[in-house]
Amino acid sequence: MELTRISFTPKQSTSPCDILIGEGIFPEIRSSLESMIETPSSITIITDSNLKKYAKGLRKDLSKYAKTNIVSFRAGERQKSFQTAVELLSKFAALGVDRKGIVFCLGGGVVGDLGGFVSSIYKRGITYFHVPTSLLAQVDSCIGGKTGIDMDFGKNQVGTFFQPRGVFIDPNFIDSLPKVELVNGIAEMVKSSIIASKRLFERLKRSDFDSIDELKRFIADCCKIKSKIVSADEKEDNLRSILNYGHTVGHALEASSNYSLSHGRSVILGMQAEGWIAKELGIFAKEDFVQQEEMLKKFERNGDSIRPRKKELLKYALMDKKSSSGIIRMSLPEKIGKMHRTKSGNYLVPVSEKLFLGSISRL
Ligand code: GLY
Repeated sequence: MELTRISFTPKQSTSPCDILIGEGIFPEIRSSLESMIETPSSITIITDSNLKKYAKGLRKDLSKYAKTNIVSFRAGERQKSFQTAVELLSKFAALGVDRKGIVFCLGGGVVGDLGGFVSSIYKRGITYFHVPTSLLAQVDSCIGGKTGIDMDFGKNQVGTFFQPRGVFIDPNFIDSLPKVELVNGIAEMVKSSIIASKRLFERLKRSDFDSIDELKRFIADCCKIKSKIVSADEKEDNLRSILNYGHTVGHALEASSNYSLSHGRSVILGMQAEGWIAKELGIFAKEDFVQQEEMLKKFERNGDSIRPRKKELLKYALMDKKSSSGIIRMSLPEKIGKMHRTKSGNYLVPVSEKLFLGSISRL
């Protein structure tokens, strides 16, 4: 099997993260583990109710190496809560997981964020790995060590930065994903290209996003882009904020729709809005803005009707983690493949409420 390996150690850290990508990767996991860590006292696989079948397959491979248990919770974004985190922590304790125990998070973004979060706080942090199963998790959320849970005051409002020791990506997981799940990942791929790679953008431009095999070929490129950014700025002091392009408006749309609007659709609309803001500010080159519009047009709305509630969106944008002192701040593109830096070197640009609301009116 052909494996792609990407390794990085964030500048501010001493702990490396190894990413392995390959179709049918499960049998490779155990031997790779042996080269990454000392033999653990136990392995706990965290997964959700839809993925137990795969967790059992992984347990079969790993149980020859160390005592392996599966803990699962009901699938769905609603489970990314304090309550589920507490339940998982209690299960760890009941299983006798100690500081030499390791965790595998097998699932999509919810499993990864929640599993990473509990790994980061259990006994002040135990080693963990991701096995992402959604395209969104494979190209974005499994890399970079952002963990978190949702609160009633917003998505991912409580969490930690805690790097996984490794990530094992099997692109075959995306074979059976529904279209909406694929679009969640494709939106992040397009974002990755706009923020960092004109070359990837040109390749994505030639794709109609209908071929699963073609989508699989973009995964490693996106992982490389994200690793490079996280490596330079793990804790989002500056550069890492570019990964949030399209997400200030995107997250606001998602939250104000009570999460009925998908993440992918929200980020596509978010890039349309934020790209327009960048153009209006004279930051985004006009011809590059047009190219972005052409790319985003490929995602037809399929009858989605969005009725943005402007005041509510403004409230969410002001609560965004990048905003501060009552000012909305966004990371904006200068051209395809390059994000803008202010004269003082900051990747975040203040955006007036008027411009923010103007961008919403266009959606
Ligand atoms: N998804 C944004 C980040 O990881 O920083």
